[in-house]
Amino acid sequence: MVLSAAIASPLAARLPRREALQTVAGRAGRLFGAAVRADALSADLGFRSAVSRECGIITPEIEWKWAYLEPQQGHLDFAAADRLADFARVAGKRIHGHALLWHRSIPPWASAVLADRPDWILVRRFLSSVMPRYGDVAFTWDVVNEPVEVGAGPDGLRRSLYHQAFGPDYIERAFEDARMLAPTAALFINEFGIDHDLPEENEKRLLLLRLLERLKKKGVPIDGLGIQAHLDLAKQPYFREAALADFLNDVGSLGLQVRISELDVREANPLQPVADRDAQVAQAVGRYLGVALANRAVGSVTCWGLSDRYSWLSSWGRPAGLNRGLPLDSDFNLKPMANILNVAFASLINSA
Ligand code: G3I
Repeated sequence: MVLSAAIASPLAARLPRREALQTVAGRAGRLFGAAVRADALSADLGFRSAVSRECGIITPEIEWKWAYLEPQQGHLDFAAADRLADFARVAGKRIHGHALLWHRSIPPWASAVLADRPDWILVRRFLSSVMPRYGDVAFTWDVVNEPVEVGAGPDGLRRSLYHQAFGPDYIERAFEDARMLAPTAALFINEFGIDHDLPEENEKRLLLLRLLERLKKKGVPIDGLGIQAHLDLAKQPYFREAALADFLNDVGSLGLQVRISELDVREANPLQPVADRDAQVAQAVGRYLGVALANRAVGSVTCWGLSDRYSWLSSWGRPAGLNRGLPLDSDFNLKPMANILNVAFASLINSA
Protein backbone atom coordinates (compact mmCIF):
# COMPACT_ATOMS: atom_id res chain seq x y z
CA MET A 1 0.00 0.00 0.00
CA VAL A 2 1.55 3.32 -1.05
CA LEU A 3 0.24 6.19 1.04
CA SER A 4 2.75 8.92 0.31
CA ALA A 5 0.82 10.27 -2.67
CA ALA A 6 -2.18 10.91 -0.46
CA ILE A 7 -0.38 13.62 1.51
CA ALA A 8 0.01 15.91 -1.40
CA SER A 9 -3.40 15.09 -2.79
CA PRO A 10 -6.15 17.69 -2.53
CA LEU A 11 -8.17 15.07 -0.67
CA ALA A 12 -5.75 14.96 2.28
CA ALA A 13 -5.35 18.72 2.33
CA ARG A 14 -9.08 19.31 2.29
CA LEU A 15 -10.12 16.58 4.71
CA PRO A 16 -13.09 18.43 6.22
CA ARG A 17 -14.12 17.83 9.82
CA ARG A 18 -12.33 14.56 9.87
CA GLU A 19 -12.98 11.78 12.33
CA ALA A 20 -10.81 11.53 15.42
CA LEU A 21 -7.83 9.25 14.95
CA GLN A 22 -9.08 6.77 17.54
CA THR A 23 -12.41 6.57 15.71
CA VAL A 24 -11.07 5.89 12.26
CA ALA A 25 -8.50 3.46 13.70
CA GLY A 26 -11.30 1.68 15.53
CA ARG A 27 -13.31 1.33 12.36
CA ALA A 28 -10.24 -0.28 10.80
CA GLY A 29 -10.03 -2.73 13.71
CA ARG A 30 -6.92 -1.03 15.12
CA LEU A 31 -6.15 1.20 18.11
CA PHE A 32 -4.57 4.63 18.07
CA GLY A 33 -2.91 6.42 20.95
CA ALA A 34 -0.05 8.54 22.22
CA ALA A 35 2.45 8.74 25.04
CA VAL A 36 1.47 11.40 27.56
CA ARG A 37 3.10 13.12 30.52
CA ALA A 38 1.06 13.47 33.69
CA ASP A 39 2.09 17.09 34.29
CA ALA A 40 0.98 18.16 30.81
CA LEU A 41 -2.29 16.31 31.19
CA SER A 42 -3.03 18.06 34.49
CA ALA A 43 -1.89 21.56 33.65
CA ASP A 44 -2.79 22.00 30.00
CA LEU A 45 -6.48 21.77 29.18
CA GLY A 46 -5.88 22.11 25.44
CA PHE A 47 -3.59 19.11 25.54
CA ARG A 48 -5.95 17.15 27.72
CA SER A 49 -8.85 17.66 25.37
CA ALA A 50 -6.72 16.80 22.32
CA VAL A 51 -5.72 13.53 24.00
CA SER A 52 -9.33 12.83 24.98
CA ARG A 53 -10.47 13.42 21.43
CA GLU A 54 -7.79 11.63 19.42
CA CYS A 55 -6.54 8.75 21.58
CA GLY A 56 -8.14 5.46 22.48
CA ILE A 57 -5.03 4.27 24.33
CA ILE A 58 -2.29 6.11 26.19
CA THR A 59 1.22 5.24 27.29
CA PRO A 60 2.71 6.92 30.36
CA GLU A 61 5.80 8.55 28.87
CA ILE A 62 7.73 8.84 32.14
CA GLU A 63 5.75 8.31 35.31
CA TRP A 64 5.36 4.53 35.42
CA LYS A 65 9.08 3.84 35.23
CA TRP A 66 10.89 2.43 38.24
CA ALA A 67 13.35 5.32 38.57
CA TYR A 68 10.46 7.74 38.67
CA LEU A 69 8.23 5.69 41.00
CA GLU A 70 10.79 4.71 43.61
CA PRO A 71 13.58 7.30 43.72
CA GLN A 72 14.41 6.12 47.25
CA GLN A 73 14.21 2.53 48.36
CA GLY A 74 10.84 1.71 49.86
CA HIS A 75 9.38 5.15 49.16
CA LEU A 76 7.05 4.55 46.26
CA ASP A 77 5.42 7.72 45.00
CA PHE A 78 2.39 6.93 42.86
CA ALA A 79 0.93 10.44 42.77
CA ALA A 80 1.66 11.24 39.11
CA ALA A 81 1.21 7.64 37.97
CA ASP A 82 -2.20 7.52 39.65
CA ARG A 83 -3.22 10.79 37.99
CA LEU A 84 -2.62 9.21 34.60
CA ALA A 85 -4.56 6.10 35.57
CA ASP A 86 -7.45 8.18 36.91
CA PHE A 87 -7.56 10.22 33.71
CA ALA A 88 -7.75 6.99 31.71
CA ARG A 89 -10.49 5.54 33.91
CA VAL A 90 -12.65 8.64 33.71
CA ALA A 91 -12.06 9.26 30.00
CA GLY A 92 -12.57 5.62 29.05
CA LYS A 93 -9.04 5.09 27.74
CA ARG A 94 -6.92 2.01 28.15
CA ILE A 95 -3.27 2.20 29.20
CA HIS A 96 -0.22 0.53 27.76
CA GLY A 97 2.04 0.07 30.81
CA HIS A 98 5.57 1.30 30.10
CA ALA A 99 8.24 0.20 30.97
CA LEU A 100 8.84 -2.39 33.67
CA LEU A 101 12.45 -3.52 33.08
CA TRP A 102 14.50 -0.90 31.26
CA HIS A 103 18.24 -0.51 31.84
CA ARG A 104 17.82 3.29 31.65
CA SER A 105 15.21 3.55 34.36
CA ILE A 106 16.64 1.64 37.30
CA PRO A 107 16.79 3.92 40.35
CA PRO A 108 20.40 4.59 41.41
CA TRP A 109 19.87 2.91 44.80
CA ALA A 110 18.59 -0.27 43.05
CA SER A 111 21.51 -0.22 40.61
CA ALA A 112 23.90 -0.17 43.56
CA VAL A 113 22.12 -3.06 45.30
CA LEU A 114 21.82 -5.18 42.14
CA ALA A 115 25.46 -4.64 41.21
CA ASP A 116 26.55 -5.70 44.66
CA ARG A 117 24.13 -8.46 45.60
CA PRO A 118 21.82 -9.65 42.79
CA ASP A 119 18.46 -10.45 44.33
CA TRP A 120 15.44 -11.01 42.08
CA ILE A 121 13.14 -10.19 45.01
CA LEU A 122 13.96 -6.54 44.42
CA VAL A 123 12.68 -6.69 40.85
CA ARG A 124 9.68 -8.80 41.80
CA ARG A 125 8.74 -6.36 44.55
CA PHE A 126 8.64 -3.53 42.00
CA LEU A 127 6.54 -5.54 39.54
CA SER A 128 4.17 -6.53 42.36
CA SER A 129 3.74 -2.96 43.48
CA VAL A 130 2.88 -1.55 40.07
CA MET A 131 1.13 -4.20 37.95
CA PRO A 132 -1.86 -5.12 40.16
CA ARG A 133 -2.39 -1.46 41.08
CA TYR A 134 -3.28 -0.71 37.48
CA GLY A 135 -4.75 -4.08 36.53
CA ASP A 136 -8.13 -2.53 35.68
CA VAL A 137 -6.79 -0.01 33.10
CA ALA A 138 -3.50 -1.44 31.84
CA PHE A 139 -4.34 -3.99 29.16
CA THR A 140 -0.83 -4.37 27.77
CA TRP A 141 2.67 -3.93 29.24
CA ASP A 142 6.24 -3.45 28.08
CA VAL A 143 7.80 -6.04 30.34
CA VAL A 144 11.32 -5.69 28.94
CA ASN A 145 12.40 -2.59 27.08
CA GLU A 146 15.33 -2.48 24.63
CA PRO A 147 17.04 -5.81 25.50
CA VAL A 148 18.92 -6.25 22.21
CA GLU A 149 22.23 -4.69 21.25
CA VAL A 150 24.39 -5.38 18.20
CA GLY A 151 27.90 -6.46 19.14
CA ALA A 152 27.05 -7.17 22.78
CA GLY A 153 27.65 -10.92 22.62
CA PRO A 154 26.59 -14.04 20.73
CA ASP A 155 23.10 -14.05 22.29
CA GLY A 156 22.49 -10.51 21.01
CA LEU A 157 21.45 -9.35 24.47
CA ARG A 158 22.47 -5.98 25.81
CA ARG A 159 24.87 -6.36 28.74
CA SER A 160 22.55 -4.32 30.96
CA LEU A 161 22.58 -4.41 34.71
CA TYR A 162 19.76 -6.96 34.55
CA HIS A 163 21.86 -9.18 32.28
CA GLN A 164 24.93 -8.78 34.47
CA ALA A 165 23.01 -9.52 37.65
CA PHE A 166 20.78 -12.41 36.53
CA GLY A 167 22.17 -13.64 33.21
CA PRO A 168 20.19 -13.96 29.99
CA ASP A 169 17.27 -15.66 31.75
CA TYR A 170 16.24 -12.38 33.36
CA ILE A 171 13.88 -11.91 30.41
CA GLU A 172 11.90 -15.09 30.99
CA ARG A 173 11.84 -14.52 34.75
CA ALA A 174 10.35 -11.07 34.17
CA PHE A 175 7.69 -12.42 31.79
CA GLU A 176 6.77 -15.26 34.14
CA ASP A 177 6.30 -12.87 37.05
CA ALA A 178 4.41 -10.42 34.85
CA ARG A 179 2.03 -13.13 33.67
CA MET A 180 1.31 -14.09 37.27
CA LEU A 181 0.66 -10.47 38.24
CA ALA A 182 -1.42 -9.57 35.17
CA PRO A 183 -2.93 -12.82 33.92
CA THR A 184 -5.09 -11.26 31.21
CA ALA A 185 -2.80 -8.48 29.97
CA ALA A 186 -0.77 -8.80 26.78
CA LEU A 187 2.96 -8.76 27.52
CA PHE A 188 5.52 -7.20 25.19
CA ILE A 189 9.18 -6.71 24.44
CA ASN A 190 9.73 -3.20 23.10
CA GLU A 191 12.70 -2.36 20.86
CA PHE A 192 14.16 0.50 18.82
CA GLY A 193 16.52 0.86 15.86
CA ILE A 194 15.00 -1.81 13.60
CA ASP A 195 13.26 0.21 10.92
CA HIS A 196 15.80 0.84 8.17
CA ASP A 197 17.80 -1.13 5.66
CA LEU A 198 21.12 -0.30 7.31
CA PRO A 199 23.69 -2.95 8.33
CA GLU A 200 23.31 -2.34 12.08
CA GLU A 201 19.51 -2.28 11.93
CA ASN A 202 19.38 -5.37 9.71
CA GLU A 203 21.54 -7.25 12.20
CA LYS A 204 19.49 -6.02 15.12
CA ARG A 205 16.24 -7.24 13.51
CA LEU A 206 17.85 -10.65 13.11
CA LEU A 207 19.09 -10.78 16.72
CA LEU A 208 15.66 -9.72 17.95
CA LEU A 209 13.93 -12.35 15.85
CA ARG A 210 16.28 -15.03 17.23
CA LEU A 211 15.44 -13.87 20.76
CA LEU A 212 11.70 -14.01 20.09
CA GLU A 213 12.07 -17.49 18.58
CA ARG A 214 13.99 -18.71 21.65
CA LEU A 215 11.39 -17.28 24.03
CA LYS A 216 8.47 -18.81 22.12
CA LYS A 217 10.24 -22.17 21.92
CA LYS A 218 10.75 -22.18 25.69
CA GLY A 219 7.09 -21.36 26.29
CA VAL A 220 7.81 -17.96 27.83
CA PRO A 221 4.52 -16.05 28.22
CA ILE A 222 5.23 -13.28 25.75
CA ASP A 223 2.40 -11.96 23.58
CA GLY A 224 3.99 -9.40 21.35
CA LEU A 225 6.63 -7.05 20.09
CA GLY A 226 6.58 -3.28 20.28
CA ILE A 227 8.45 -1.57 17.45
CA GLN A 228 9.32 1.92 18.62
CA ALA A 229 9.58 3.45 15.12
CA HIS A 230 11.44 6.62 16.07
CA LEU A 231 11.85 7.54 12.41
CA ASP A 232 14.72 9.76 11.36
CA LEU A 233 14.62 11.74 8.13
CA ALA A 234 18.40 11.53 7.86
CA LYS A 235 17.97 7.76 7.59
CA GLN A 236 14.96 7.91 5.29
CA PRO A 237 16.95 7.02 2.12
CA TYR A 238 17.53 3.65 3.78
CA PHE A 239 13.89 2.82 4.41
CA ARG A 240 13.03 -0.18 2.28
CA GLU A 241 9.47 -1.50 2.33
CA ALA A 242 10.45 -5.15 1.84
CA ALA A 243 12.82 -5.21 4.81
CA LEU A 244 10.10 -4.11 7.22
CA ALA A 245 7.40 -6.26 5.58
CA ASP A 246 9.54 -9.42 5.82
CA PHE A 247 10.35 -8.75 9.45
CA LEU A 248 6.69 -8.23 10.34
CA ASN A 249 5.80 -11.47 8.58
CA ASP A 250 8.48 -13.32 10.54
CA VAL A 251 7.30 -11.91 13.86
CA GLY A 252 3.64 -12.55 13.03
CA SER A 253 4.38 -16.13 12.06
CA LEU A 254 5.62 -16.74 15.62
CA GLY A 255 2.07 -15.98 16.73
CA LEU A 256 3.05 -12.63 18.22
CA GLN A 257 1.12 -9.36 18.09
CA VAL A 258 2.93 -6.21 17.00
CA ARG A 259 2.42 -2.65 18.23
CA ILE A 260 3.98 0.40 16.63
CA SER A 261 4.79 1.80 20.02
CA GLU A 262 6.65 5.14 19.87
CA LEU A 263 6.13 6.61 16.41
CA ASP A 264 7.59 10.05 15.75
CA VAL A 265 9.92 11.66 13.22
CA ARG A 266 13.21 13.38 13.86
CA GLU A 267 13.76 16.04 11.23
CA ALA A 268 16.99 16.37 9.30
CA ASN A 269 16.71 20.05 8.47
CA PRO A 270 14.43 22.26 10.57
CA LEU A 271 15.45 25.36 8.62
CA GLN A 272 13.27 24.60 5.58
CA PRO A 273 9.81 26.13 5.09
CA VAL A 274 7.29 24.62 7.49
CA ALA A 275 5.08 23.24 4.71
CA ASP A 276 8.02 21.30 3.24
CA ARG A 277 9.01 19.97 6.63
CA ASP A 278 5.49 18.82 7.42
CA ALA A 279 5.18 17.13 4.04
CA GLN A 280 8.46 15.24 4.58
CA VAL A 281 7.38 14.07 8.04
CA ALA A 282 4.01 12.91 6.73
CA GLN A 283 5.59 11.17 3.78
CA ALA A 284 7.92 9.15 6.01
CA VAL A 285 5.00 8.16 8.23
CA GLY A 286 2.86 7.27 5.21
CA ARG A 287 5.50 4.98 3.75
CA TYR A 288 6.08 3.32 7.09
CA LEU A 289 2.45 2.76 7.97
CA GLY A 290 1.66 1.63 4.45
CA VAL A 291 3.84 -1.39 5.17
CA ALA A 292 3.10 -1.83 8.86
CA LEU A 293 -0.68 -1.66 8.76
CA ALA A 294 -0.84 -4.00 5.78
CA ASN A 295 0.13 -6.71 8.25
CA ARG A 296 -2.79 -7.90 10.40
CA ALA A 297 -0.44 -8.62 13.31
CA VAL A 298 -0.01 -4.86 13.78
CA GLY A 299 -2.92 -4.02 16.05
CA SER A 300 -2.11 -0.51 17.21
CA VAL A 301 -0.17 2.65 16.52
CA THR A 302 1.03 4.87 19.37
CA CYS A 303 2.85 8.14 18.72
CA TRP A 304 5.53 9.22 21.18
CA GLY A 305 3.55 12.29 22.14
CA LEU A 306 0.56 13.82 20.42
CA SER A 307 1.65 17.44 20.05
CA ASP A 308 5.00 19.06 19.27
CA ARG A 309 4.48 21.05 22.47
CA TYR A 310 5.47 17.95 24.44
CA SER A 311 7.98 15.93 22.48
CA TRP A 312 11.21 14.34 23.63
CA LEU A 313 12.54 15.34 20.19
CA SER A 314 12.57 18.92 21.40
CA SER A 315 14.75 18.09 24.37
CA TRP A 316 18.21 18.38 22.87
CA GLY A 317 18.64 22.09 23.30
CA ARG A 318 15.77 22.78 20.91
CA PRO A 319 12.91 24.95 22.14
CA ALA A 320 9.59 23.14 22.61
CA GLY A 321 7.83 22.63 19.33
CA LEU A 322 10.83 23.21 17.10
CA ASN A 323 10.84 19.63 15.92
CA ARG A 324 7.60 18.94 14.03
CA GLY A 325 7.56 15.15 14.23
CA LEU A 326 4.14 14.55 15.81
CA PRO A 327 0.55 14.70 14.48
CA LEU A 328 -0.40 18.02 16.14
CA ASP A 329 1.66 21.20 16.24
CA SER A 330 2.47 23.16 19.41
CA ASP A 331 -0.92 24.90 19.27
CA PHE A 332 -2.74 21.60 18.76
CA ASN A 333 -3.48 22.20 15.09
CA LEU A 334 -3.62 19.08 12.97
CA LYS A 335 -0.69 18.65 10.61
CA PRO A 336 -0.26 16.55 7.47
CA MET A 337 1.05 13.76 9.72
CA ALA A 338 -2.41 13.57 11.33
CA ASN A 339 -3.99 13.46 7.89
CA ILE A 340 -1.75 10.65 6.74
CA LEU A 341 -2.51 8.63 9.87
CA ASN A 342 -6.17 9.13 9.12
CA VAL A 343 -5.73 8.11 5.50
CA ALA A 344 -3.68 5.07 6.52
CA PHE A 345 -6.41 3.78 8.83
CA ALA A 346 -9.22 4.77 6.46
CA SER A 347 -7.64 2.94 3.55
CA LEU A 348 -7.87 -0.30 5.55
CA ILE A 349 -11.60 0.19 5.94
CA ASN A 350 -12.03 0.95 2.28
CA SER A 351 -10.02 -2.07 1.19
CA ALA A 352 -11.70 -4.50 3.63
O1 G3I B 1 10.49 17.83 33.71
C1 G3I B 1 11.86 17.90 34.15
C2 G3I B 1 12.31 19.33 34.18
O2 G3I B 1 11.58 20.02 35.18
C3 G3I B 1 13.82 19.37 34.50
O3 G3I B 1 14.27 20.69 34.41
C4 G3I B 1 14.59 18.52 33.48
C5 G3I B 1 16.08 18.45 33.83
O4 G3I B 1 16.64 17.26 33.35
O5 G3I B 1 14.08 17.21 33.52
C6 G3I B 1 12.70 17.14 33.14
O6 G3I B 1 12.30 15.81 33.16
C7 G3I B 1 12.80 14.99 32.13
C8 G3I B 1 11.61 14.42 31.36
O7 G3I B 1 12.05 13.53 30.38
C9 G3I B 1 10.75 15.52 30.68
O8 G3I B 1 11.49 16.12 29.67
C10 G3I B 1 13.61 13.87 32.72
O9 G3I B 1 14.78 14.41 33.30
C11 G3I B 1 13.99 12.88 31.64
O10 G3I B 1 14.62 11.75 32.24
C12 G3I B 1 12.75 12.41 30.92
O11 G3I B 1 13.18 11.64 29.84
C13 G3I B 1 12.28 10.66 29.34
C14 G3I B 1 13.10 9.40 29.07
O12 G3I B 1 12.33 8.43 28.39
C15 G3I B 1 13.57 8.75 30.39
O13 G3I B 1 12.47 8.38 31.17
C16 G3I B 1 11.68 11.20 28.03
O14 G3I B 1 10.80 12.28 28.32
C17 G3I B 1 10.92 10.06 27.35
O15 G3I B 1 10.42 10.53 26.10
C18 G3I B 1 11.85 8.90 27.13
O16 G3I B 1 11.12 7.88 26.50
C19 G3I B 1 11.86 6.79 25.96
C20 G3I B 1 11.05 5.52 26.16
O17 G3I B 1 10.72 5.38 27.53
C21 G3I B 1 11.78 4.31 25.63
N1 G3I B 1 12.14 4.49 24.24
C22 G3I B 1 12.89 5.72 23.93
C23 G3I B 1 12.12 6.94 24.43
C24 G3I B 1 12.84 8.23 24.10
O18 G3I B 1 14.09 8.29 24.74
